Amino acid sequence: MTTKSPIKLPAPVFDDPRHHIRLYHGDSLELLALLPESTVDLIFADPPYFLSNGGITCHAGRMVSVNKGAWDKFQDPALGPVRARIENIHEFNRSWLAACQRILKPNGSLWVSGTAHVIHSVGFAMQQLGFKLLNDISWVKPNPPPNLSCRYFTHSTETIIWAARDKKSRHTFNYKLMKETNRGKQMKSVWEIKPPETWERRFGKHPTQKPLALLERILLASSNEGDLVLDPFSGSGTTALAALRLRREAIALELSYEYLALTLQRLTQDLVRVELSLTTLQFSLDLFPNLMDRSCSGRTSDRPADSGANQKSQSREMSANLQLVQQECRFHFIGRQNRAVIFSVLAPTLDDALQQFRNSGHSPSDALFIIKTETQIFLA
Ligand SMILES: C[S@@+](CC[C@H](N)C(=O)[O-])C[C@H]1O[C@@H](n2cnc3c(N)ncnc32)[C@H](O)[C@@H]1O
Repeated sequence: MTTKSPIKLPAPVFDDPRHHIRLYHGDSLELLALLPESTVDLIFADPPYFLSNGGITCHAGRMVSVNKGAWDKFQDPALGPVRARIENIHEFNRSWLAACQRILKPNGSLWVSGTAHVIHSVGFAMQQLGFKLLNDISWVKPNPPPNLSCRYFTHSTETIIWAARDKKSRHTFNYKLMKETNRGKQMKSVWEIKPPETWERRFGKHPTQKPLALLERILLASSNEGDLVLDPFSGSGTTALAALRLRREAIALELSYEYLALTLQRLTQDLVRVELSLTTLQFSLDLFPNLMDRSCSGRTSDRPADSGANQKSQSREMSANLQLVQQECRFHFIGRQNRAVIFSVLAPTLDDALQQFRNSGHSPSDALFIIKTETQIFLA
């Protein structure tokens, strides 16, 4: 007699065992079903809004389509692409919410963000499934785009529902920390947070990218260091990035390779900075009277002795298969007083970095020395 072996989770497209961050490619409904039950502390979900049906909105003073991509059009497998149908969308929301409920720990909780198009269905499905509704946060966006039709109020909020796994859950809420963050006053359920800043979009844009500040607040409020956080519709990876920064473990699920690559760029950028901040402690002082560039690009003749022809050709062969995903040059100014990094900047040259150091209000004598780091990140 043959026994059917259980279907295993596919290999992650990115796995960082040191920081416990894993990214999976695929349909979250299929992937969630393969994760073990009662193992996740916190879920943040920003599901498709099914908004991409040909409407228009205003962005940076221009009329643009609201279409976000194929993932945001409702696809009925039996009928092919069709206009969004309320019952089907509700069934979809119910299915992924039930899958999330199964993997949440008994005291785990879940946050779901959305606009009016989807959030009422999400709330109703949560009630049907027996989640315990905790709060509905109004995320207020300052400076929203104007309403072009002049027939509605300007859309300036998104709702984020926070719910515990079930009625018995004793969910985590870091009340004190939230009060401290709010200058000693109890934090309200209205949060004014700016949309993603330019630096958050430097590797590319996701049409519905959430600000890192929003995810950081959510994680700080309702999870602790070492907790496992999951995002079933990860997009550009904002949840995974917030988890990495706040020392939580993370699992991110996403359908699109393009957005997974974007996530990887955001994560690796942060991983490099984490390592650097640790290693700067080990730099020994080796002072020179004048500023000089001692990085590899500043050297011509002092290549290490072991760079023989054989090794060179091997590494050339290897590098031909690698994809350069990021390249940057950063200058760290180490303070004269406390010997810590007092200013860090991305700049093409040392002169440019010094100019920015001065522009930031520092005097050149504030720095004891400057570390230049050149980073190239390759996808293996
Ligand atoms: C609203 S966006 C999430 C944006 C994300 N919060 C961020 O900060 O970038 C939804 C994402 O879910 C993905 N998606 C849609 N349907 C999916 C599915 N069934 N399984 C996995 N990912 C899906 C889309 O590709 C899209 O990137």
